[in-house]
Amino acid sequence: MTSPMAITIAKQTTVSAIALFPGGHGKPQLRPFPFTAHRNPPMCLLAGEQPSRADSGDGQRLQHHASEHASGFSHSSVMLAEIVALFDDSEGCIVDATLGAGGHAEALLEAHPRISVIGLDRDRAAIAAATRRLARFGDRFVAHHVRFDDISTVVERGTCSGVIFDLGVSSPQLDHADRGFSHRFEGPLDMRMDDTDSLTAAEVVNTYREHELVTLLREYADERHAKRIASAIVSARPLSTTSELADVVVNAVPAAARRRQQRHPAMRTFQAVRIEVNSELDLLRPALESAVDALKPGGRIAVLSYHSGEDRIVKQLLRDESRTSPKGRPDLPPPPDMVTRLRLLWSGSRQPGDIELSANPRSASARLRAAERTEQGL
Ligand SMILES: C[S@@+](CC[C@H](N)C(=O)[O-])C[C@H]1O[C@@H](n2cnc3c(N)ncnc32)[C@H](O)[C@@H]1O
Repeated sequence: MTSPMAITIAKQTTVSAIALFPGGHGKPQLRPFPFTAHRNPPMCLLAGEQPSRADSGDGQRLQHHASEHASGFSHSSVMLAEIVALFDDSEGCIVDATLGAGGHAEALLEAHPRISVIGLDRDRAAIAAATRRLARFGDRFVAHHVRFDDISTVVERGTCSGVIFDLGVSSPQLDHADRGFSHRFEGPLDMRMDDTDSLTAAEVVNTYREHELVTLLREYADERHAKRIASAIVSARPLSTTSELADVVVNAVPAAARRRQQRHPAMRTFQAVRIEVNSELDLLRPALESAVDALKPGGRIAVLSYHSGEDRIVKQLLRDESRTSPKGRPDLPPPPDMVTRLRLLWSGSRQPGDIELSANPRSASARLRAAERTEQGL
């Protein structure tokens, strides 16, 4: 789905991985990559690619990293056991296309000693935090500050044992007020996952035409009061903080509807603006296609999505790639030129169990879909 108002962010294939160094005051500092060659890059890395290396520091450093992680960048990974089990008996390289805090990557590295992980994220803070967290795995983990639709700039076609996507935002992104993702905290209207991108939430709410706002509120968040909210935003311009936007939305939603809603009335608006700022849906299908390209036969793709727009794209792609008969004619045999690159591991989607739901309510909307690469179309 391509939003008519989406501003294309010209950020093509530059791979600018970053690495974390302890600064003079014990604070982490980022510096641009490359800084050192990787001694034993995972097998599927493109020749010449220079990853951000997990720093294999000493125990003291690891302790520092662990507490830093606990205090600054923690995220409860969703359906962890299910993701880990999907790669039982795997060896070789797995791409974590949405590295985040590194929770899924860490669990995979711990459970499966014969795999290595290449982590991608468009958020430099996530890359830095995961690089610290996974330092103890040495050469088995590398990270790249790269968007997931650019997988092909980092890994060779047909070489990966797995690719995982855990879509959406991480808890640190939501919970750090200065990122501007949440209606719950006062902050600037930013919402960029990648702080080197140009489009911000402020630009969306202050410059988009009213009908464009209506479209994105409906398409990206199924917002029933899209027209009222869009009109209120336009009247209240300029808006510069998250609480200004949240207040405008709250006042635009009829009181009766507000009373019926279980969630904050501005939640959907924030979701829609965030998806627009980060072109989340537009990037997804190309990213999934590249992920299938990257898999070797028997390799697996697993995708966790968190709202219907994302899940629809995932479901469609997996269905298209696993089709064994012409579209709309399940009664017919495959035509000779038909290529079926995936085999679904189960039909439909799986959801978190009750124990996980009570421990982590943020997992409630998760849907997991997975498939395995066939030998066709290599
Ligand atoms: C839900 S979090 C991942 C959490 C991670 N699985 C864990 O267990 O800690 C999603 C991450 O995906 C990243 N992300 C979202 N869209 C992306 C894209 N197009 N390319 C690369 N990373 C992206 C976000 O920056 C965020 O860090």
